[in-house]
Amino acid sequence: MERLQKVIANSGYASRRKAEELIAKGKVMVNGEVVTELGTKVSSKDEILIDGNILTKEEKVYFLLNKPRGYITTTKDDKQRKTVVELIDTDARIYPVGRLDYDTTGALILTNDGDFANMMMHPSSNVDKVYIAKVKGIIKGEHIRKLESGVYIDGVKTAKAKAKLKKFDKKEQTSIVELTIHEGKNHQVKKMFEAIGFEVIKLKRERIAFLDVYDLKSKEYRKINKKELAQLYLLTKK
Ligand code: URA
Repeated sequence: MERLQKVIANSGYASRRKAEELIAKGKVMVNGEVVTELGTKVSSKDEILIDGNILTKEEKVYFLLNKPRGYITTTKDDKQRKTVVELIDTDARIYPVGRLDYDTTGALILTNDGDFANMMMHPSSNVDKVYIAKVKGIIKGEHIRKLESGVYIDGVKTAKAKAKLKKFDKKEQTSIVELTIHEGKNHQVKKMFEAIGFEVIKLKRERIAFLDVYDLKSKEYRKINKKELAQLYLLTKK
């Protein structure tokens, strides 16, 4: 048995919040009766109607996109900016798993599977996210050590990370650093560098766990296959 709003959200019909609104407004019927109580439990045998339409389960889909710069990672935008969901040709109601900034490029998963998205984003999940950051200034060993042992972002220490100096350009006064983190705080990479006195001028997410975007050009995407999904589930259970 699962909560009605979760079942509606997982079907891809609406977000959890929108589903709650629909229930509260009396638009949802379960087995022929209007249900307005949030948290009502239903099973797969129950017939759910929304505005008179039967709720059918949308097939679950999973995509890996090489996000280009200039797209936001939400499904809609008040400022009419382009969104990442526009790049994927599907009728499924997909949304991005986690966020990448407007100017960040690279690996992004999109799905209509709420449980999968929650699992991937859960702080305890063991999913490495590998970023390549170009920063202003020359990164030294002491900075790498600070990034790895944790820095304070908004008063909270970041978890242990892996950092590697890939190269630096003395003339240009820039460095390229590979940073591997598990967490997904808002603007985490930029804030981690800011905490040690560096500005990120370019950021790419190269990899989420074993899913890299080397074979995908900017804006290209592919389906994540069943074997990869199973591996991701395994990883998060570790
Ligand atoms: N960290 C950031 O600062 N920005 C991103 O887009 C992703 C991680």
